[in-house]
Amino acid sequence: MNRMQWLATGLCVAGAAGALWSLDWFAGQLYPEDGVGKLAYAPADAMPPRVDMASVQRDWPASLQAPGEGDRLIAYRRDMLGKAPMPAVGVDGAGIAAQADLGTLLANANADVGRAKAQLCLSCHDLKQGGPNRIGPNLWGVVGRPVATHAGFAYSPAMKEHGGSWSYESLFDFLASPARDVPGTKMNFAGLRRAEDRAALIKYLATLGHGAPPPPEPKPAARSGAAR
Ligand code: HEC
Repeated sequence: MNRMQWLATGLCVAGAAGALWSLDWFAGQLYPEDGVGKLAYAPADAMPPRVDMASVQRDWPASLQAPGEGDRLIAYRRDMLGKAPMPAVGVDGAGIAAQADLGTLLANANADVGRAKAQLCLSCHDLKQGGPNRIGPNLWGVVGRPVATHAGFAYSPAMKEHGGSWSYESLFDFLASPARDVPGTKMNFAGLRRAEDRAALIKYLATLGHGAPPPPEPKPAARSGAAR
């Protein structure tokens, strides 16, 4: 090779290196590498240490330690809670105090939603008129039907002892937790926790058959003590 060829080769190499370098620079501009390898969140051990209650207590105003002061604070808080409008909290399914009364729940319930919920029952129950008993008895017309009386189904002793008819209320309690409501039942179903779901389902069940009694009336909202 002569000098010119060496020069051309050298220029080519230098040009290629330069092009590569500028590509690298350009890519670096597009995708800065600063964040690479860093977590997008702070791991737990980088968090502030747990609150040390003892030190918080040490920082309390000394007056709170004074005799009787704690009681006054508690009384004050109770007083404030009494004045603040409290959301109606219910003990779901326990039958102690439902969020809303069943009549109101049923009035607001949508039978189509109930029909969708009834999918949960179909693995064991047939819902059609004259349909067969499966793992559980046929449920056509179950609202208003005397408990444990569907022909040809072998009920558990617990269910046979239940007595009465399937009212809106008794279905509402039963479907919240069959095993709790009828201990010893062989209906192996955990229950529907949400009161609204149960109301919708029962509203749908009541459309199957003709024996369903009228649903309970919605109770006027109880506003005790609010207006004085
Ligand atoms: C895993 C199967 C299974 C599922 C799921 C199930 N059940 Fe049952 N169900 C039973 C069995 C079994 C019995 C009979 C209980 C007994 O004799 O103790 C029963 C009984 C009942 C009874 C009493 C019927 C009567 O004639 O007295 C009602 C009401 C009932 N089921 C409603 C439902 C509803 C509504 C659903 C859906 C939310 C449902 N069940 C889901 C198995 C099931």
